[in-house]
Amino acid sequence: MPRLAYVDGQIIPLASASVPVEDRGLQFADSVYEVCAVLNGRLLDWPLHLARLGRNLGELSIAAPMADAALSLVAKRLIAANRVTEALLYIQVSRGTAKRDHGFPSARAPTLVMTVRPFDFAQRVAQQSKGVAVISVADQRWGRCDIKTTGLLANVLAKQEARDAGAFEAWLVRDDGTVTEGGSTNTWIVDAGTIVTHPQSPHILPGVMRAAVIEAAVAAGIPLVERPFSLDEARGANEAFITSTTVPVLPVIRIDGHAIGGGKPGSIAALLAKAIWNRIATQTGYRP
Ligand code: PDD
Repeated sequence: MPRLAYVDGQIIPLASASVPVEDRGLQFADSVYEVCAVLNGRLLDWPLHLARLGRNLGELSIAAPMADAALSLVAKRLIAANRVTEALLYIQVSRGTAKRDHGFPSARAPTLVMTVRPFDFAQRVAQQSKGVAVISVADQRWGRCDIKTTGLLANVLAKQEARDAGAFEAWLVRDDGTVTEGGSTNTWIVDAGTIVTHPQSPHILPGVMRAAVIEAAVAAGIPLVERPFSLDEARGANEAFITSTTVPVLPVIRIDGHAIGGGKPGSIAALLAKAIWNRIATQTGYRP
């Protein structure tokens, strides 16, 4: 079964799907994107992804390619056409195609592209019980990391540095020593029973999984504060973990080779992981 993609109005084989050379997403990273989990054929937290996409388009004055209801229909059609049950839906909206010129083109015709890639969520269960290593890397990104743009070069370089070091993720550290987030995840520590994560600000992406984990922590009555924490603080924390659409609560057991929580996943991360699997089961019926 060949994979299928959606490109500006048509569902076509992924292998032949393309955008014009002068698409502004290609030339300027003048585009935003979303990655949504598909579990049991159903979209997880879809309204939250739609809301974030809408906000990001608004922040950049990119016209919405279609109404939310139509976008939902196209997404569901593409998932069904690909005949996958566990997958990642990728949505990208660029400002469109125009003669290369930095300022916005006068015509407002955004380009909408979607792909669906099979993804094994169940692999995370074993990783959750083992934990992963991360390294720290200087945060070299721009000042609006709250907008989910495809301008990801600094993230790409940081994640490759982590991969080269045999680590799962790069934790991005600002000049003042604070950890903002991971290359493609939000970052968390547990300090004396309190969960700490960077507050929503232009320095981090407001993760959909981050919102879900905050909800789970509040529901479980675990104290939580949203404040910046330093790399030193993280090294001394009882627990650390990362979250994203593709990584629903993954314990971090090493930062730059330094063991966290005795080098073993902690109980609060385990509790939150369970809560997120329950959230997934409630919304989609999927259990790993
Ligand atoms: N990345 N921070 C960054 C920089 C991210 O790229 C992501 C997600 C997150 C977590 O956001 P969410 O919980 O909404 O997935 C935080 C996606 C998965 C990606 O680029 O592939």
